[in-house]
Amino acid sequence: MDRISSAAEFQTACDTLRMRGKTIGLVPTMGALHDGHRQLIKLAREQCDVVAVSIFVNPLQFDNPIDLEKYPRSIEDDLEVASTLGVDVVFAPLETEMHPRPILFHLEVDGLSEVLEGSSRPGHFGGVVTVVAKLFILAGRCRAYFGEKDFQQLAIVSRMVKEMHFPVQIVPVPIVRDERGLALSSRNLRLTSEQLNSALSLSRSLFAAREAIRRGEKNTDKIEQLMAQELGREIDGIAQADLAVLDYALVVDPLTLMRPDRIEGTVRLLVAARIGDVRLIDNVGA
Ligand code: PAJ
Repeated sequence: MDRISSAAEFQTACDTLRMRGKTIGLVPTMGALHDGHRQLIKLAREQCDVVAVSIFVNPLQFDNPIDLEKYPRSIEDDLEVASTLGVDVVFAPLETEMHPRPILFHLEVDGLSEVLEGSSRPGHFGGVVTVVAKLFILAGRCRAYFGEKDFQQLAIVSRMVKEMHFPVQIVPVPIVRDERGLALSSRNLRLTSEQLNSALSLSRSLFAAREAIRRGEKNTDKIEQLMAQELGREIDGIAQADLAVLDYALVVDPLTLMRPDRIEGTVRLLVAARIGDVRLIDNVGA
């Protein structure tokens, strides 16, 4: 497995591999690799000749300096995981290599980014698309693997590829959950065992809403209320401070992220909540 920290070197490596007729699978990550990331890597391994994983905690997408500082970093463990999964190239650049100073260019997203995550994290998706576009330019023609866990990110990146004509095929990967239903996330590492129990209310609220839709409920308001109720419900034995505090519980169209008045056809249910100082998100299709 090659470990590359220079952008130019990563670009040359990808060009050379393609010239030799190899297909490239790119898995962009911020490291602290868990089973969710592993699933992306495994799929890339199955579908592509060469797998490149990028590991870069992108400061441009953090609106909160404490969140950036507390973001888990475990490069040595990550290299071990990547190597075990048969990754060919790990691209782990320094910040100044990825974003040479002074920073004069920055991508912005119109629409799609003002709702959901965008409304409480201004500038977040601009930071995401800026770094993802750079990674696409370096990797060149490839398949790129993105988790449905960050559903809005997936929708925005897919739209960027279509609109900006990046020679990249986006491969969406279903959410990996633990045995109790909790969506895996690097942020889960910051939760106490009490808070982890409380975090189950996110997926519980989504599953309850999905079930109600299956039973025929078509009223968007009612589904959103149901999710909010489930999320706000007190759980025996869990202290008030450790309960999930709702940020949003919404029904949206999976492509436009617009909220339908009534549920006709496929929708996406999304929730965000805060537990202590950790913000969690989750979603399901229905
Ligand atoms: P990160 O949070 O490290 O996630 C990397 C990829 O793993 C994303 O596509 C994310 O959706 C996916 N992922 C995380 N948890 C998952 C789970 N439980 N199931 C399935 N997929 C999961 O997302 C980012 O990094 C960054 O924004 C990035 C795209 C790398 C740009 O900086």
